[in-house]
Amino acid sequence: MSDPVVASKTPYSTQVEEGKSYFWCACGRSKKQPFCDGSHKGTGFTPVKYTAEKTRTVFFCGCKHSGKKPLCDGTHAKL
Ligand code: FES
Ligand code: FES
Repeated sequence: MSDPVVASKTPYSTQVEEGKSYFWCACGRSKKQPFCDGSHKGTGFTPVKYTAEKTRTVFFCGCKHSGKKPLCDGTHAKL
């Protein structure tokens, strides 16, 4: 498994809804960032499920190198 593609060097500010699940793209190849569109096929990556505990804005990692996937932890600043 190679490194994930850096889809964006900044996080995706996203409004999530309480109780709803989201599938974050881990491989960086999706055309529907920050979410999985199936493009990971054959890469060894699989999406990371995120279930929102409440309705709010979260910052999904765009660089795919966060230590707190699927959310941004600031690692993008060091890439
Ligand atoms: Fe990237 Fe599915 S498209 S994990
Ligand atoms: Fe990946 Fe911030 S966008 S750590």
